[in-house]
Amino acid sequence: MRLVRSASPAQGEVKSISGASANQTSGKVLIAYFSQTGNTDGFAKIIQDMSGADIFRIERKEPYSASSNAQVLYAEALTEQRENAVPDLKAYLEDAGLNIDDYDTILLGYCNWWASIPAPVRSFLMHYDMSGKTIVPFCSMGGGRFGQTISAVAKLCPSSTIKKGLDVTYASYDNDEISNWLKANGIITGN
Ligand SMILES: Cc1cc2nc3c(=O)[nH]c(=O)nc-3n(C[C@H](O)[C@H](O)[C@H](O)COP(=O)(O)O)c2cc1C
Repeated sequence: MRLVRSASPAQGEVKSISGASANQTSGKVLIAYFSQTGNTDGFAKIIQDMSGADIFRIERKEPYSASSNAQVLYAEALTEQRENAVPDLKAYLEDAGLNIDDYDTILLGYCNWWASIPAPVRSFLMHYDMSGKTIVPFCSMGGGRFGQTISAVAKLCPSSTIKKGLDVTYASYDNDEISNWLKANGIITGN
C-alpha cells in the first residue's frame, strides 16, 4: 500500500506560535495521546518520565479491528477520516480523576493516519474547550512527518496556541532530541 505523504512544515508550526523559544511554561502540563500499535505510547511514556506530567491515553470506545498496521485498520481509519467521524471514547479525563481546567499546556500525541489525526483525537479535542491552552504536538509516523495533522488540530482548536512539535519515525525515539524539545518548549528546564 502506498501511503499519502504530503509535504509538511518541518516542525509543523502553523499559527500564533507565541514564543516557541525557551519561555518556561506556566501551569500544569497534561500528556494526552492516542496510539494504536504502541509507538506513540512509548513516545508518551518517555515524555512522562522526563516531565513528570499527568498522562491520559485516548482510546476509542469501540476498539479498532487491528492493533497492527493491517489492511482492515487502514480501511477503518480512511472511512473515519472521509466522514470526519467523532467516535465515542472509552474514557474521558473525568473518568481518570483529571480535569481539563487544571491544565494550561497539553502535550498532544498521536500517530499520523492518512496524513491526518486519528478520529479519537478529533473526539478528544471536540469534547473539551481548549481555548487559551497551549498545545504541543508529538507524533509517530512512517515517513510523512506531521502531514496535515497540525492544521487539523488548529482547525479544531482555533483559540489555542500551538507550539513546536516533535515527530519520530515509528519508534525511533532519541532521548536527547526529546529532552531538547521539551526544554525548547519550556516543559522541563536544564542545560
Ligand atoms: C490507518 C493508518 C494510516 C497511516 N497513515 C500514515 C501516513 O499517512 N503517513 C505516515 O507517515 N504514516 C502513516 N501510518 C503509519 C503510522 O503513523 C505509524 O505506524 C505509527 O508509528 C503508528 O503509531 P502507533 O504505534 O502509536 O499507533 C499509518 C498507519 C495506519 C495504521
